[in-house]
This record gives sequence, structure tokens and C-alpha cells, in this order.
Amino acid sequence: MNAQKLIETARTLVAGDKGLLAMDESNPTCHKRFERLGIPRTEEARRAWRELIVTTPGLGECISGAILFDETIRQKKKDSTPFVKVLTDAGIIPGIKVDTGAKDMAGHPGEKITEGLDGLRDRLAEYSQLGARFAKWRAVIAMGEGIPSRGCIEANAHALALYAALCQEAGLVPIVEPEVLMDGDHTLERCRVVTEEVLRTVFNQLYTQRVMLEGMILKPNMVLPGLTCPGQEGVDEVAGATVRSLSWTVPAAVPGIAFLSGGQSAELASARLNAMNVAFKSRLPWALAFSFARAIQQPALEIWQGKEANVLAAQKALYHRARCNSAARRGEYDARMEMP
Ligand code: 13P
Repeated sequence: MNAQKLIETARTLVAGDKGLLAMDESNPTCHKRFERLGIPRTEEARRAWRELIVTTPGLGECISGAILFDETIRQKKKDSTPFVKVLTDAGIIPGIKVDTGAKDMAGHPGEKITEGLDGLRDRLAEYSQLGARFAKWRAVIAMGEGIPSRGCIEANAHALALYAALCQEAGLVPIVEPEVLMDGDHTLERCRVVTEEVLRTVFNQLYTQRVMLEGMILKPNMVLPGLTCPGQEGVDEVAGATVRSLSWTVPAAVPGIAFLSGGQSAELASARLNAMNVAFKSRLPWALAFSFARAIQQPALEIWQGKEANVLAAQKALYHRARCNSAARRGEYDARMEMP
């Protein structure tokens, strides 16, 4: 492990006003999003969509790193240039999703455990050869009656820590992603309590597994009311609750926190990140950044619809979302940016 290199990569990922673009959807997830828009569920459609993303002009102004899927890191543009080279030439660091998905957890109805540790050391070595400099592993914590359980939180935190230690051994910066889901009618207060318990457990495990905190990035959910909760707090309440939870649980040695969007609308995700940076940026030990998939890609995907003629318009929409989120990092996002 080259500690200095890990620290530099982690810092670069959250430097300035840039953030991460997650484009690591597994094939079934990608197909679900394609299907709703009538886009063919084929390898070529997946390749074409990812080519559109990585060739978006100016993307590197706002995006520091892109998280790829196993298929995507091996893919090329139509003219045979590997995606990894396109990204690197644009100043974007390639990363890779290395978990193999969240599966039903035995003895824990309604809960999931993320798999992918078997053979991970060898896979990380290959991804590093292919040009990846950081990795991602997502744990999913569902909310509901009697869940999450301690068993689910502990098992997922343990797997995240083992993954993170293996990444650092291989010279890859681990993105540690424990996602408390938005689905459900729980209140913001309950999301806060659960998020804090999850983060406390995760950092306890990271410490136990000797993960170097300076060489990792945390990718958490924002603290939000459930999607079907009748009371929906405003942007400032969400920002305050989120920063409070993170302040109580995330050590100052972590260089950056890059939120997932989790199904929020693209505009709300930008507005909430912005509110956090407006109110708290100067007082926090870590950078507050973004690592969005849907909140950057979705508007562009809806414009593209799988049609060559829509590529430029879709790239404009993608660039726009990247710019909005970059502005949110500075605390300069404004809803007026959304006007055509
Ligand atoms: P969303 O921003 O769409 O939640 O995706 C982020 C991600 O990488 C999920 O693992």
C-alpha cells in the first residue's frame, strides 16, 4: 500500500468544487431505467449511453471521478478508444464498482447483505491494471417496522470494512457507501437516528479493520423523511439534520463525504447539497461533495431515449446537472440555474 498515493487520490476526488459521477449501474438496474423510456436493453445500447456520458464536452470541469461497472471499464468508444482513456484525457479519474450486489439476508426478512468479498483481492488487482484508481461498495439498509436490525447493520458494516482494507492494500481508494433507503413512511427524525447508528457502526468496523481514514471517501445518504412520509421537511431542515448526523459520527480524518442521490429529484439533490455548503462549509473538517447517478444522469437519459439525433441535447443536460452540483459545492446553486 502506498499511503501517500491513496491520500492524494482521495483528496483529488473531493478537491475544489468537483464531485463524482456514478455510472456503475449493473445490467438489470440499467435495463430497468432503459425499459421505462423504450430504450433497447442491449449491450450496444448500454455502451452507447456510456459513450455519450464520457464524451460530454466540459465534463471534467465539474467531475473529478467516474464510477464504472465491470462491463463499462472494458468498453470502448465506437472509434475503439477505451472509455478509461477518454476519461483520463478529460482529467476524470476512473473508478469501479466492486460489490456483486445486495442479496436477501438469511434470517432477516426484508433486509439485504451486500456480497462480493470472495476473490476480491484478485479482482482489485485486475481493475487496477485496467486503470481504476478507486472503488465503490454499496450496502443497503432498508427502513420499516422492526428494521433495520442490528444483525443487518453489523454484517454490512463488517463487509464494507473488509472491502475497504482490501482496496487500500491494492492501492485503490475505497468509496464506502452505506445507504439508508428513502423508501417508506418514516420520519426525518427516524432516518437521522438510523443513519447515525449505521455510520457509528461502519466507522467502528473501519477502525477495527485498520482502514486508513485519510485514504477513503464516505458516500452516505442525506438525512431525509421517507418518500411516503406525510411530513416533508424543507431544504434547510434536511441540510441541518444531515450535517448534524455526520458531525456526530464521521471522524475529521476523512477527507470528503460524497452523497448519493438515492431517488431524490435532480433539483432537490442540488438544492440540499447547496444548503449544506451555504450554512456549514467553513466550519466542517471534510468536504461535502456529490457522487450522484440518477440526479446527474436521469434528465439526460430522458432526452436521449436511445436516439443518435438526441445525443448533443442529452450531453447538454448532463453537463448542466454536473454544473449545478458543482455550484452546490460552492454554495452558489440557485433554482434560477434551472431556467432554460
Ligand atoms: P444514486 O445517486 O442514483 O442513488 O446512485 C448512487 C450510487 O452510486 C448508488 O450506488
